Amino acid sequence: MPGMSEALKAALTDKSAGVAEMLQHLLPEVAETESRLFDAMRYSTMNGGKRLRPFLVLTTAEMFHVAPSSALRAAAAVEMIHCYSLVHDDLPAMDNDDLRRGKPTCHRQFDEATAILAGDGLLTRAFEVLAHPATHSDPAVRSQLVLDLAQAAGPHGMVGGQMVDMLAERDDAVRAGLDVAAITRMHQMKTGRMIAFSCMAGATLGKAPAQLRQALQAYAHDLGLCFQIVDDLLDVEGSADEMGKTIGKDQAAGKITFVSLLGLERARDQARLLAGQAVQHLKPFDAEADLLRDVAAYVLDRRS
Ligand code: IPE
Ligand code: IPE
Ligand code: MG
Ligand code: MG
Ligand code: MG
Repeated sequence: MPGMSEALKAALTDKSAGVAEMLQHLLPEVAETESRLFDAMRYSTMNGGKRLRPFLVLTTAEMFHVAPSSALRAAAAVEMIHCYSLVHDDLPAMDNDDLRRGKPTCHRQFDEATAILAGDGLLTRAFEVLAHPATHSDPAVRSQLVLDLAQAAGPHGMVGGQMVDMLAERDDAVRAGLDVAAITRMHQMKTGRMIAFSCMAGATLGKAPAQLRQALQAYAHDLGLCFQIVDDLLDVEGSADEMGKTIGKDQAAGKITFVSLLGLERARDQARLLAGQAVQHLKPFDAEADLLRDVAAYVLDRRS
């Protein structure tokens, strides 16, 4: 894959396998009448995907010597929330997409009601997983993770960002007010907060000192914004084959993005600046943060 160091490639493959196993364990096939719901939840999570957020959880957890069993549960919880957000994002009432991770979207494969419920199921299950004693022996750590994830995914985080994204498409007054500062805030909410949670969860599990938490927080802030700007760029410049989702849909839907506001070149400059800044924030770390440095380069150069 372009933009990826050998070390990062190996680590991504290895960690993705661990996450797949944990998701299998946490989302088993069931025999009861509601099996269709579990089938849809499994379909929407065990379907490839870059697994960037779980990777960030697992990598930062290693930096703070967290037990792999704890880290994998937190990583799976984050991926469940992320996949739920994708299932709902693709619904006809939202982005109305037919293709996700190279396959029919959940509502296409099943039906709309099942897709809504599969999203609800993944959302709820994620918090169940975090709150379970198997995630960490210290209840204060578990409750901190639950609080942080609720804030990252909730109405002041991902869900709020999705609302602004929808309003920007449909409400002329909101649309008119969306300058670079406002769209930066929207991106931070809809994408950045979940990426930041993913970077911080390992630090929370490992009870990392405040100064290192701050450095990670700053890294995550810039990485998250860079990630969404590149997503917007790839919607214009990417290929559907590599992306596994339909491209050109932002412009067709009249979305406001960094690309629509700044143009391709300046949006790419902005993403490059943020990736560089993200790495700068990792100065307090030595080689243990090298994978995070590689991730910043990958997020910028990725094709999928
Ligand atoms: C897509 O996320 C949605 C955004 C927040 C831009 P990813 O690009 O991480 O999607 P997957 O998980 O690899 O499918
Ligand atoms: C989605 O952003 C962000 C979410 C919180 C799901 P997009 O709508 O740009 O994501 P894609 O391009 O469909 O993956
Ligand atoms: Mg969307
Ligand atoms: Mg979308
Ligand atoms: Mg997009």
